[in-house]
Amino acid sequence: MKVGGTEYRTVWMQGNTVFLIEQNLLPFSFRIHQAATYRESCESISTMRIRGAGAIGAMAGFAMAQAFLEAPGQSYLEFVCEARRDIEATRPTARNLFYATELVYQAGLKTREQAVLMAQWIADKDAADSQKIGEFGNSLIKDGFQIETHCNAGWLAFVDFGTALSPVYIAHNSGKKVFVYVDETRPRSQGARLTAWELNQAGIAHTIIPDNAGAWLMSKGKVDMMIVGADRIAANGDTANKIGTFEKAIVAKEFGIPFYVAAPTSTFDAECPSGKEIPIEVRSQNEVLYQDGITEDGRHEKILVCSPGSTALNPAFDVTPAHYITGIITEKGIIRPGAEAIRQILT
Ligand code: MRU
Repeated sequence: MKVGGTEYRTVWMQGNTVFLIEQNLLPFSFRIHQAATYRESCESISTMRIRGAGAIGAMAGFAMAQAFLEAPGQSYLEFVCEARRDIEATRPTARNLFYATELVYQAGLKTREQAVLMAQWIADKDAADSQKIGEFGNSLIKDGFQIETHCNAGWLAFVDFGTALSPVYIAHNSGKKVFVYVDETRPRSQGARLTAWELNQAGIAHTIIPDNAGAWLMSKGKVDMMIVGADRIAANGDTANKIGTFEKAIVAKEFGIPFYVAAPTSTFDAECPSGKEIPIEVRSQNEVLYQDGITEDGRHEKILVCSPGSTALNPAFDVTPAHYITGIITEKGIIRPGAEAIRQILT
C-alpha cells in the first residue's frame, strides 16, 4: 500500500535485518523500525511494534530465518531451537506465528538460504492471499453499503492489503460507495488509531465509534454487514479475534446482519478442535489503566485514565462460536464455518 506516494509492505527483510512499520507510533508518526537480530524481532512482536495475525506470522518467519543466519557453528541446532522457543513465546494466539516458525524451521534444516527463501515466500503468500480475500469479499459488498469492522485487520495487520479491509479497498477502487464504522477497540485502540489511519490514507469514508455503540447502530439499521479478521480459527469454525468481537457477533445475529470473518488458510488450526482449546493472550493491565496520545502542541504523553490503585484485567482476544458467523472469506473462496467445509479447504 502507498504511504505518501511510496509503496510499503508492513514488514520486509534485507540482509540479516528485518524492517517494519512501527505501529506503536501510528497514527502520529510514520517510522520504519529495524530489528537486527532474532531477539530484536521477538521484542518487536511482543511489544506490538508489529501486530495483526499475518504481519506477526511474516515477522516470526523472518525472525526464524535470522536465527539460522546467526546460529554459531558449534551449537547450531541448539541455538536455532532455543530461538524458535523464544519466537513462539512472544504472542500465543495468532496461528500464523506458529505456521511460520514451523515452515521456516523445516526449510532451515536443509540450508540457511532455504530458511531465508521460505520466510520470504511466507511474506509474499500473505500479501497475495490478502489480495484474493479482497476479491472474494468484494462480491458481498453492494454499492452504498455501510460496513462495521472491529480492531485492525487492514494492511497493517498483514504484509499488504489486509483481510477485513481488503474487500473494502477493492469495492472502493471499483467505484462502489462504501462507508465504514470503525470500532475504537479499547484498550489499544487498533480501530481508532490504525484502521482509521488506513482509511484516511485511502480516502474511504468512515467514522470511529465507541466500542459500546455497535448494538445501537445495528438496531437503527445503520449496518449492512460486519467484517472482522481472525487470529486463529479452530477446526469447527470457532474464531478467536480481538476482544469484543464475540459481542458484535451476538448483536449482529440478533438484528439479522451478516457477520463475516476474513482470514487466509494460514490462520486455520486443524489441530485445534474447537474454540475452547485456543490459547488466549492476557496482556499487561497497564494497557487498560493508561492511554497514550499526543497533546495539542504535539507532545506524546501517556496518562492514567482509571481510578488510581485499581487493577485491570486485559484479555486480548475472545472466541466467537461458529454458529454466529455467516461465512469465512479465504483466499480460496467463501466458506460456511463448519468442520466439513474447513477440512475441504485445508486439503
Ligand atoms: O493484538 P493484535 O493487534 O495483534 O490483534 C490482532 C488483530 O488486529 C485483530 O484481532 C484482527 O482483527 C485480526 S488479525 C488480522
